[in-house]
Amino acid sequence: MSQPLVFRWGIISTGMIANVFVKDLLVDPKTRDVHDVVHKVTAIGSRSVTKAQEFIDSVLESDKASAKAYGSYAEVYADKDVDVIYVATPHTYHYENAMDAIKAKKHVLCEKPVTVNAAELRSLLAAAKENNVFFMEAMWTRFHPLSLEFKEISESGVLGLPIAMHADLSVDFGIKDLPKTHRILDPMLGGGPLLDLGPYPLVWAIMALFEHPSNKYSQPSISGSMVMTPITGVDSNTSFTLSFSKADLSAQAVLSCSINAAGLEPGATIRYEKGVIKIAGPLYCPQSFTVQYFEKGKVVREETRNFEYAGRGMHFQADEVARCVRDGKIESEVWSHKKYLLEMDIFDEVRRQGGYVLPPGVEKVTA
Ligand SMILES: NC(=O)c1ccc[n+]([C@@H]2O[C@H](COP(=O)([O-])OP(=O)(O)OC[C@H]3O[C@@H](n4cnc5c(N)ncnc54)[C@H](OP(=O)(O)O)[C@@H]3O)[C@@H](O)[C@H]2O)c1
Repeated sequence: MSQPLVFRWGIISTGMIANVFVKDLLVDPKTRDVHDVVHKVTAIGSRSVTKAQEFIDSVLESDKASAKAYGSYAEVYADKDVDVIYVATPHTYHYENAMDAIKAKKHVLCEKPVTVNAAELRSLLAAAKENNVFFMEAMWTRFHPLSLEFKEISESGVLGLPIAMHADLSVDFGIKDLPKTHRILDPMLGGGPLLDLGPYPLVWAIMALFEHPSNKYSQPSISGSMVMTPITGVDSNTSFTLSFSKADLSAQAVLSCSINAAGLEPGATIRYEKGVIKIAGPLYCPQSFTVQYFEKGKVVREETRNFEYAGRGMHFQADEVARCVRDGKIESEVWSHKKYLLEMDIFDEVRRQGGYVLPPGVEKVTA
């Protein structure tokens, strides 16, 4: 067997999710039956070189000696020992960080929400194409083995067509006691649940309905509503409905997210003509789902599937990035550009209907 591809990552920022992602990169790929790629972290970029070095010392294991600590993000983009950049700054910096990386001809995996609006994303995708580099939103949930198996059942026809679904991701952040500068509350950092948590109920609607073959990638109509917190004026509770009726699918998704309520169980319920699939929460990395089969409206069979793997599950998307780059692709077929363009178009529309205007200067590109 040929040697696995060694794929070299440069990490932008040293925050919470960068920590989780890098730990997952270091999990031996063989534990998930991956033999064609291995991941290596070669550079950490922070606004402080001390923080970058502390990150290396505390998070990296075998890569510790060879990884470089940089006190700027620009030095990571310029490093010839870096193949791909992982952007893990707050959302309002994604555009500028990803654009700088693209212009340096680096491939990019960018945290969710990929940008703060659709215009920023369109500009990044155009730049990625022009510079012939791979670009993907870090929608790790889409690559979990659980999601792949969910889609197989959902699209097999065994339950008939999907009809309606509800999905929610809520986290009680204790916002009354949080500093107003925390990224979940600060409008300058794109605070509120829509941009932060909304991608997860939405990815289930994209998997269950938008990607369903009967939908033929038709766009849904969108209705949204937001409640703002008086603390900083960002949304605290947001609901949105997506109605799919332009192709052979007639189905509706009711989606919600909150930063001051505990999560719901199950996280998602997808109702079909002949059954239901219930996805356990939290929706960003569920560990099980239950399928109920109906006859004449009654449950006649039920099965639960459980999923376990080493790590938190952020490495499956990293394997996809490495393989796409190896194969000369600039886009993943699994989480393709059109899916997160839909995501950002939906968020723009929900913010428009909900009256959430980002402060001047936050959106680097507007339509
Ligand atoms: N995939 C997931 O499940 C998941 C989970 C949580 C968050 N996220 C996403 O990941 C991104 C980062 O979230 P996080 O929770 O990791 O945030 P965080 O802990 O606050 O870390 C963000 C990092 O960005 C850098 N940064 C640059 N400019 C900044 C600024 N003006 N204010 C604050 N930090 C700044 C800082 O690193 P340096 O000081 O080292 O430069 C900071 O440590 C967000 O877009 C979020 O939506 C994804």
